[in-house]
Amino acid sequence: MCPGSFDPVTLGHLDIIGRASLLYDEVVVAVGINASKKRMFTFEERTEMLREATGVYGNVRVDTFDGLIVDFCKANEIQVIVKGLRAISDFDYELQMAQMNHGLQGVETMFMTTNPLYSFLSSSLVKEVATYGGDVSASVPEAVHRRLLERVREQS
Ligand code: PNS
Repeated sequence: MCPGSFDPVTLGHLDIIGRASLLYDEVVVAVGINASKKRMFTFEERTEMLREATGVYGNVRVDTFDGLIVDFCKANEIQVIVKGLRAISDFDYELQMAQMNHGLQGVETMFMTTNPLYSFLSSSLVKEVATYGGDVSASVPEAVHRRLLERVREQS
């Protein structure tokens, strides 16, 4: 399982998902709904963008989850969470979550080092740069870029 909010999916996410798809028979990309958080895209939009972007992988499916990651894992018989690590700053929180998830349900977390091409990339930065008119076309798939520009126009 590759969990996240994917608001929106970036080339960094896709790099991890693509590499995970080479290692595992099946990869479930799970979009956290978490309605209390303010998002630029609805979970339906985030899911749709992910489905478009991961369509090339035969063994990747996109799903949504609400509540605890480990409950989704249990319901779907998932044993491994795959997470990308961009920098040591990611590790601090990811380690806590991995240990908590292992303690709760015995779910393992495998960390994959991010391709250095994307080590600076985050959905938050992409949204911020796009909001202020910066060019993020090299950071997200083309279809996501189009939707980002549209959303920024709508919100201005
Ligand atoms: O891409 P993000 O924003 O880092 O993803 C966050 C996400 C969806 C993975 C996070 O909100 C999450 O883990 N939600 C599920 C709640 C949960 O299981 N929390 C306990 C983790 S130890």
